[in-house]
Amino acid sequence: MAQIKHVAIIMDGNGRWANQRFRPRIWGHVRGSAVVSEIVQSADELGIKALTLYAFSTENWSRPLEEVSTLFKLLKKFLQKEKQKILANNIKFKVIGDIQNLPVDTLSLIKEIEELTENSNGLNLTFAFSYGGRAEILRAINLFQSSHPGVEMTEADLSSLMYRPEAGDVDLMIRTGGDQRISNFLLWQMAYAELYFTPTKWPDFTAGEFKKIIQNVSSRERRFGNVSVQNGLVDSVERAESNKASFLKGINS
Ligand code: FPP
Repeated sequence: MAQIKHVAIIMDGNGRWANQRFRPRIWGHVRGSAVVSEIVQSADELGIKALTLYAFSTENWSRPLEEVSTLFKLLKKFLQKEKQKILANNIKFKVIGDIQNLPVDTLSLIKEIEELTENSNGLNLTFAFSYGGRAEILRAINLFQSSHPGVEMTEADLSSLMYRPEAGDVDLMIRTGGDQRISNFLLWQMAYAELYFTPTKWPDFTAGEFKKIIQNVSSRERRFGNVSVQNGLVDSVERAESNKASFLKGINS
């Protein structure tokens, strides 16, 4: 069974879930935030190493101000409510994205939890907030260029300059809500990710469905461009490089 280490989730369908119940869209986000804690707990129990949740994209800034402000409030409420659980479960927490414009009290709560969990060795939990995948890649390129002017960048350099390099490549991306897109989420890290789209809207998503998806995807073959199942992308890339070198040496000698 291939091990799924890093799971990324696009938590979609909150607005439609609420509209179907004749409630305002923000009700869907409120119900959706309760599901977040259930899935974090389940990921931890399933032995997943990293969980990255898309809570607010750069594109979400175009939503009505009331909705944006609800999402900000929910983030703060979630952190206040879950802080002790995060510490007790040895979770290593981080928020990624362009978060400088968050309210100061939310920012300091984020910093506090990030610092308190810096040395935790449990689940790597990441919230992507005001996040965009292209912006993350550009940020990494610009950081590299300013520290290494004129030097050619490698894939390893770029990976190391992502917001959260220790989470590694994404093994599985789940999107709830029925749409089949990746919406500018973790573009670099998802190069070889398995993709799973479920029609379930996020407020109806459960730990039971999450577990079934993990089991289902764990039994898929992951070949990373090779002919047989591989341990991971890095192994496969190394093997491809070494095969290529021997092959070229053979035909050129
Ligand atoms: C997409 O649903 C969801 C979001 C834009 C936000 C996700 C946020 C949560 C799950 C709650 C916040 C939780 C925390 C802890 C920050 P949508 O509004 O696009 O739904 P739709 O596609 O039905 O319109």
